[in-house]
Amino acid sequence: LDAPNADPFEIAAAAAADIARLTGVEKHDIALTLGSGWGRAAELIGETVATVPATEVTGFSRPALEGHVGTLRSIRTPGGKHVLVIGARTHYYEGHGVRRVVHSVRTAAAAGTRIMVLTNGAGGVRETWHAGQPVLISDHINLTADSPLEGATFVDLTDLYSRRLRDIARSVDPTLDEGVYTQFRGPHYETPAEVQMAKRIGGDIVGMSTALEAIAAREAGMEILGFSLITNLAAGIQSTPLSHGEVIEAGKEAEPVISALLARVVEQL
Ligand code: 6GU
Repeated sequence: LDAPNADPFEIAAAAAADIARLTGVEKHDIALTLGSGWGRAAELIGETVATVPATEVTGFSRPALEGHVGTLRSIRTPGGKHVLVIGARTHYYEGHGVRRVVHSVRTAAAAGTRIMVLTNGAGGVRETWHAGQPVLISDHINLTADSPLEGATFVDLTDLYSRRLRDIARSVDPTLDEGVYTQFRGPHYETPAEVQMAKRIGGDIVGMSTALEAIAAREAGMEILGFSLITNLAAGIQSTPLSHGEVIEAGKEAEPVISALLARVVEQL
């Protein structure tokens, strides 16, 4: 993926072939990327057909900075749908380039999925929100100044986070709020001034993932559904300093509730 003359779509096709071989599932219907706090959803969605270490799949071989090997899981829902659960996200802040960030999305597309569900843990900009609250992503602002698209690939991003899929999610939980996700590069959190900027330009959620992946998913022709778990309010919105520990803790606490919500939504897709 790092070689300038490498074709990321060919590598994604090879990865999809690896997944078909290792899981015995030729075609997946839905792909689901699990962000912090969402990890337990997989068990609730259905029966795990196969779990594959990401290191065995083409293009996923470079381990994340955290040092843990992610997995790809094939799950069969009670309704018979095949869900590819991606527990191996590469973040933009790792610095390995945007091709690696979106490789899992392109692999999912090559594996046949038509629906991409992206989840994350993120900061809330709205004072009325609270830690532990899941929100739907209605749109995004990409502040990475980067794109997964290369060359003259002019892709429309209207209704990027599908209204149809958001309506389905709200039919499961009518209390779900929605907001605009703002992707910063990270890995530092924003300054209070940057959070105010995000707010003024229309951002409701601040995070370090998802937007670049959504662009790649749209390029691949997939329908996209996005969820953020508000793990904390952003700097200056909450008065206490942010910490990764707090983010992980909020994720753990909310995990059973939001995972159940996600499983019920996936059932309806
Ligand atoms: Cl406040 N900002 C960003 N960029 N990512 C986060 C966050 C904040 N809280 C959790 N993840």
